[in-house]
Amino acid sequence: DTWPKDVGILALEVYFPAQYVDQTDLEKYNNVEAGKYTVGLGQTHMGFCSVQEDINSLCLTVVQRLMERTQLPWDSVGRLEVGTETIIDKSKAVKTVLMELFQDSGNTDIEGIDTTNACYGGTASLFNAANWMESSYWDGRYALVVCGDIAVYPNGNARPTGGAGAVAMLIGPKAPLALEQGLRGTHMENAYDFYKPNLASEYPMVDGKLSIQCYLRALDRCYASYRQKIQKQWKQAGIDRPFTLDDLQYMIFHTPFCKMVQKSLARLMFNDFLSSSGDTQTLYQGLEAFRELKLEDTYTNKDLDKALLKASLDMFNKKTKASLYLSTHNGNMYTSSLYGCLASLLSHHSAQDLAGSRIGAFSYGSGLAASLFSFRVSQDASPGSPLDTLVSSISDLPKRLASRKRMSPEEFTEIMNQREQFYHKVNFSPPGDTNNLFPGTWYLERVDEMHRRKYARRP
Ligand code: HMG
Repeated sequence: DTWPKDVGILALEVYFPAQYVDQTDLEKYNNVEAGKYTVGLGQTHMGFCSVQEDINSLCLTVVQRLMERTQLPWDSVGRLEVGTETIIDKSKAVKTVLMELFQDSGNTDIEGIDTTNACYGGTASLFNAANWMESSYWDGRYALVVCGDIAVYPNGNARPTGGAGAVAMLIGPKAPLALEQGLRGTHMENAYDFYKPNLASEYPMVDGKLSIQCYLRALDRCYASYRQKIQKQWKQAGIDRPFTLDDLQYMIFHTPFCKMVQKSLARLMFNDFLSSSGDTQTLYQGLEAFRELKLEDTYTNKDLDKALLKASLDMFNKKTKASLYLSTHNGNMYTSSLYGCLASLLSHHSAQDLAGSRIGAFSYGSGLAASLFSFRVSQDASPGSPLDTLVSSISDLPKRLASRKRMSPEEFTEIMNQREQFYHKVNFSPPGDTNNLFPGTWYLERVDEMHRRKYARRP
């Protein structure tokens, strides 16, 4: 076996916009019942971009921050992949724009381009990077995986489930978060739950109710396939017992809105329950009445929903809740959502807590593509260990979120209108005060008459 050992995430950087709108303010502004967004969706704040930001600027910022923090030389990177569904050019990859950052180093020998399928592109990029490292083409250098998106919806039900952000991950061997080999449960099918056929607009077409069913079905299928694979590995190692949620110390999910994730963890428990036998009453309290149901008939069963949320509450608090911190405060970040959850999890647990654990991860992209996979956290949590360094690098996440500027729903709506108006405008410099961006943020300076984009960095 000549593969490098423990390929996975060595370092991680998160970017989110410097401004947000409060969901309670939005409830009032949109004349909906109090609690619809904050309780019903589980969202407290939503980050949104200024008109000076686009997908390229988000990714430039997050990559530069990661490289500055890790102090790695620019020529130590041999692969750079971008996962995004925020497409501003049908041909030119965001990756090519990021090459600008490498210019002074002279390093142009960097594989990888953009990958797109809704929120799944980041995961596809992560898998590609790991596959490269476990292949004959690997030259010993690091890979960077970048995911970023601007999640915006037209006025209406879906608007409060927007958000924006980017995550950059440094991938290499001997990682504190190692991808578990051979363990990816995948489900893909053709669905029109959320898609972007309108190239003249940033907004998707979305069938909200269908998208929730598609997400849950994909979750069921991926979990079944993941369990099958891990049980097969176990069998070969002489272990013969069913895999359950107990075997995952933490579980993170793609997060369109936080309530969806709480229901998803509950759903996994229902999967465990249906495949359990014998006396499991104490483990799965209140579920016995639902024993005869078939998974695929239960996507809209409210009684089951309630019973599951109750039965899984403890588990949710232990395994998943901490991972929702960024999503609660910033909203959906599409491709970067799952990896923002990973960052939140790391920022809310000590290296000691995390050491040796297994983190399950469910990635979902509409249309649809989904995978459930897992990370094994290294045992060594001592000060200065890779795990300790990774965990402490993210500990300022709550503080950074708290330093954002609160905008009124009127200001938010005005900026959304401006984004519509300026989308693909040429011969133009976006208006605005760059002091409203976080220090070190890249922004769009100018679009010339040939649609060429020029970026600058706020000191
Ligand atoms: P809606 O139809 O307006 O909301 O939009 P609702 O009426 O279903 O209410 C939402 C929840 O709030 C319900 O909870 C209500 O009961 C509750 P549930 O019954 O389902 O548990 N509620 C309240 N709770 C407390 N106090 C109140 C109150 N009022 C209502 N006063 C919807 C919701 C999510 C459909 C909409 O926002 C939407 O279309 N969003 C975009 C699509 C989406 O996020 N889909 C999620 C799965 S697909 C996915 O994850 C992929 C995606 O990220 C894209 C990609 O892959 O690129 C979206």
